[in-house]
Amino acid sequence: MSKITAAITAVNGYVPDYVLTNAELSTMVDTNDEWITTRTGIKERRILKGEGLATSDLAVPAVLGLLKKRGIGAEEIDLIVFCTTTPDMPFPATANLFAHKIGAVNAWGFDLQAACSGFLFGLATGAQFIETGRHKKVLVVGADKMSSIVDYQDRATCIIFGDGAGAALLEPNYDGYGVIDSVLKSDGSGIPFLHMKAGGSLKPASHETIDAREHYAYQEGKAVFKFAVTNMADVAAEVMERNSLTADDIAWLVPHQANKRIIDATAARTGVSEGKVIVNIERYGNTTNATIPLCLWEWEDKFKKGDNLILAAFGGGFTWGSLYIKWAY
Ligand code: UT7
Repeated sequence: MSKITAAITAVNGYVPDYVLTNAELSTMVDTNDEWITTRTGIKERRILKGEGLATSDLAVPAVLGLLKKRGIGAEEIDLIVFCTTTPDMPFPATANLFAHKIGAVNAWGFDLQAACSGFLFGLATGAQFIETGRHKKVLVVGADKMSSIVDYQDRATCIIFGDGAGAALLEPNYDGYGVIDSVLKSDGSGIPFLHMKAGGSLKPASHETIDAREHYAYQEGKAVFKFAVTNMADVAAEVMERNSLTADDIAWLVPHQANKRIIDATAARTGVSEGKVIVNIERYGNTTNATIPLCLWEWEDKFKKGDNLILAAFGGGFTWGSLYIKWAY
């Protein structure tokens, strides 16, 4: 029997209705549209408003739409890899809450925490269960309600993030389509530059941690930028080189959407021309685990069977990586 590869057979995305523009942000913190646009490329981002709504509520419409497109029921899913940095609760896993919400009664699942690289780590992990023949349908979800951990008094950080969700279904393929290769990295020495100070076992929640605003994402933007701009570009180039791919062989570069300048640096390093670089940062900002599946969802109609895609991401941890995917439909 020929080798099994893990093909993406459907993608979908969801963003909430509320649009937080640069103009509205400039009424909340000392900033302006010109600064945000030139430094990041972001014009607006989506925010999930309403009491009692969590990350899983962003993922539900994304995945129900995906199942409809693929023409299958939730009970057919074997495994859910739920990639998020903003779980509904510290425990149990959002994968469990989410499976219950969509009726994935035959699935097991787990949460995967790799910050902005989560969806790539999730695809690489989910692919293993397909490649071994263990599972037939693996759902990889990337979803974050970043507005729940963003400090809207920190002007250098709050301008970047937004809420959203996306998902991809992995199924066995016998003709060489799907996840072909991955380069995945992590380096805990990057923790000081991007983390949440309190709320974990190191520093449980207290009046003091709340007063000190330690339950928000803390980022030293310049330091993170320096690592992101070289590492994301390097791994994308590495996965291309070791698969003997030149820029001409690449149909689409799908970069994590954290900062347009980081996207441009990755494109320049790989040599992929502007028209083949997927960018939607101006409308959604950095949705953390959702950026890459949202790009796949919005560009799905343009992809052709056999297209070579290079996915690349960098995030807190530090984590970073790149995947080479041969599009299957
Ligand atoms: O996806 C997860 C990984 N995260 C990233 O990849 C983010 C990487 N970092 C970045 O994208 C950028 O570092 C930021 C967009 C976060 C910040 O841009 P920057 O060019 O690195 O700005 P900075 O933080 O070095 O600040 C430069 C100046 C400072 O003023 P002074 O000290 O030079 O007077 C800031 O106070 O810009 C000021 N500033 C702002 N001014 C207007 C910072 N934020 C703002 C703001 N509006 N929103």
